[in-house]
Amino acid sequence: MLPNMIRIKDKEFVPFINRESLNNRIVEMGRKISMDFKNDEPIILGVLNGSFMFLSDLAKQLDAQAEITFVKISSYSGMESSGKVQELIGLGVILTGRNVIIVEDIVDTGLSMDHLLSLIRLQKPKKISLVTLLLKPDALKFDLQIDYVGFEIPNKFVVGYGLDYEGFGRNLPEIYQLKI
Ligand code: IMP
Repeated sequence: MLPNMIRIKDKEFVPFINRESLNNRIVEMGRKISMDFKNDEPIILGVLNGSFMFLSDLAKQLDAQAEITFVKISSYSGMESSGKVQELIGLGVILTGRNVIIVEDIVDTGLSMDHLLSLIRLQKPKKISLVTLLLKPDALKFDLQIDYVGFEIPNKFVVGYGLDYEGFGRNLPEIYQLKI
């Protein structure tokens, strides 16, 4: 059972998406992605830091031969997008001609995904598919076609299950929302 409220630094958060809902949705997403990529040997590109928990659970549901690698970027400062993307660990693999699946924890303004897409397109992959656990449709500022969305959520700050507030909260096994 989730605690009713948690505190991280100066902020309070309340339970939002529990373990069971996460598990059920990730199983569904895994099934769909497995069917769509059955014979493709895709390369899965996890976006660090936030996607590590989601990708770990999603990967276990994939019934397909897939390579897994990571890129590390940062665009958030505290509770807001900084408007700039910093690349901290770059693309270390060649994606030319590959089926690339980008896996994000959350798409908020879409800036990070848009930035990553333009970098990856330079390598001329065969196809790029986008997966995100969470999407805030009301915050989206870029024209992105996201192929697999776990949950559409309101434009409120969330933590847990890989997502952080100032570096903390990533280890929470479930998702919490900022208490207003
Ligand atoms: P975007 O570039 O504005 O779409 O933001 C994407 C990145 O910002 C995500 O990968 C997260 O690292 C971070 N982010 C966006 N919204 C939240 C949130 O509600 N909680 C924690 N991190 C967030």
